[in-house]
Amino acid sequence: MEKPIITKADIHDIGGLFNKPELHEATFIIFGATGDLTMRKLIPALYNLCVDKLLPRDFKIVTVARSNKSLDSMLARFKSGVERFSRNKLNDDCWQKMVDRISYVQVDYDRQESYETLKNELGITLPENADRHYLFYLSTPPTSFQVIIDGLGKSGLVTPAHHKAGPPTRVVFEKPFGRDLQSALALNELAHHYLDEEQLFRMDHYLGKETVQNILIFRFANSIFEPIWNRRYISHVRITAFENIGIEGRGAFYEEAGVIRDVLQNHLLQILALCAMEPPNSFDAEHIRDERAKVFKALRPLDPYALRNDVSLAQYEGYLNEEGVAKDSKTPTYASVKLFIDNWRWAGIPFVLSTGKNLKKKMTQIEIVYTPVPLCLFKENDVCMKLEPNVLTIRIQPEEGISLRIGTKTPGEKQDVSPVQLDFDFNQSFKEKAQQEAYEKLLLDCLRGNQTLFARQEEVEHMWRFVAPLLEGVQSGQIPMGNYVAGSNGPEVKP
Ligand code: BG6
Repeated sequence: MEKPIITKADIHDIGGLFNKPELHEATFIIFGATGDLTMRKLIPALYNLCVDKLLPRDFKIVTVARSNKSLDSMLARFKSGVERFSRNKLNDDCWQKMVDRISYVQVDYDRQESYETLKNELGITLPENADRHYLFYLSTPPTSFQVIIDGLGKSGLVTPAHHKAGPPTRVVFEKPFGRDLQSALALNELAHHYLDEEQLFRMDHYLGKETVQNILIFRFANSIFEPIWNRRYISHVRITAFENIGIEGRGAFYEEAGVIRDVLQNHLLQILALCAMEPPNSFDAEHIRDERAKVFKALRPLDPYALRNDVSLAQYEGYLNEEGVAKDSKTPTYASVKLFIDNWRWAGIPFVLSTGKNLKKKMTQIEIVYTPVPLCLFKENDVCMKLEPNVLTIRIQPEEGISLRIGTKTPGEKQDVSPVQLDFDFNQSFKEKAQQEAYEKLLLDCLRGNQTLFARQEEVEHMWRFVAPLLEGVQSGQIPMGNYVAGSNGPEVKP
């Protein structure tokens, strides 16, 4: 007998929507099925969950897009996605199980009748289907979110949980949630018209990464760090997410997004929140989300007059030749921002967030740089000059782990000091434990109704509010745009 997806331990379920001892029937409806994300991430994640027997016994995957496609061509695309991107190798039996459950429906997002077709395909008729759970995943560009939510709402495919009028439904929004503050506000309002907040899952796959989840464990399962986790001992914090890949054929999407909407507004700010937040009252979703939101609320607004000094934006050379990119595009592919959190713990401490595409090395990490020793006790001037501050580095990916740089005596006659690393390597320590991919973890959390790793309404609004001057600065040309050579360490100018 296959494992039930819901166990008693999961009955943290907000609102009690999915609050059942077991969940045996679920349908995933993926909008934007012809897109990159569905092929690279969503189908491979569902495949891995299927292999690990973590999906409900009776699951279906209804893939949806605007194009007229045959199911066979979609299946071929999905299969190649699993072959290329899944952590488990393609196994014919498991793949056949997926094939038997995948369908494709063409939906014109703007036409209400299309949602009726979808409804027929899903066979939603009450009360017979009240046990089946429906998870709508919007993996389209954010510009389509509004019209899809409206279509789903008007057709009754989604209903507010508290009405208890339809089968249990949830909606997942791929990031970015909107294009800016105004569109995020409008989208939240519309979504709340048709659904309750407990049914809304604003995705940020970084929150699902093991090493990102480990930030809170590291901070709150170890008593030695908390006393020195503040402005008295830390001089600054650097959060970096460099990629060695370019835009990978996603020109049209990237022109709309740029690095600010694609990574800075969500992934980097969420990592920042986990590093900077206060200890939550408990690990319950709402307590954690409260604390993340408080960090966003305390972000000092970027001063439009200081943008030139505190922000570097750049584009890699060759970006303009990418398919789907305008020849005179001003879209930044690199951004570095110095920011401050105006609260008691962090007052006056700079956080530098940097991210870019097509750089030399893929590397996402947090560096907590400690204050220098107050007095150099080694008489020799050259030794004092060499003293380096302690740096705690949390490596999110690759080479996942944590290291601490300390000064140590260099063997020999002299009182010399050298920096060395105390190192923890995730993969070495947990060799036998395969790491679940972020999308697997998050899809399961959606099914279980656990919203801890999803942004709550005000989180996304605060994040958009914070990046608004950057988006305006790019548009108006107020922030100068540099260049960098693809495959390099990025632009020289940094805050
Ligand atoms: C996505 C962005 O959210 O994150 C991509 O849209 C980026 O542009 C990707 O490449 C990076 O994710 P990861 O998990 O590979 O670091």
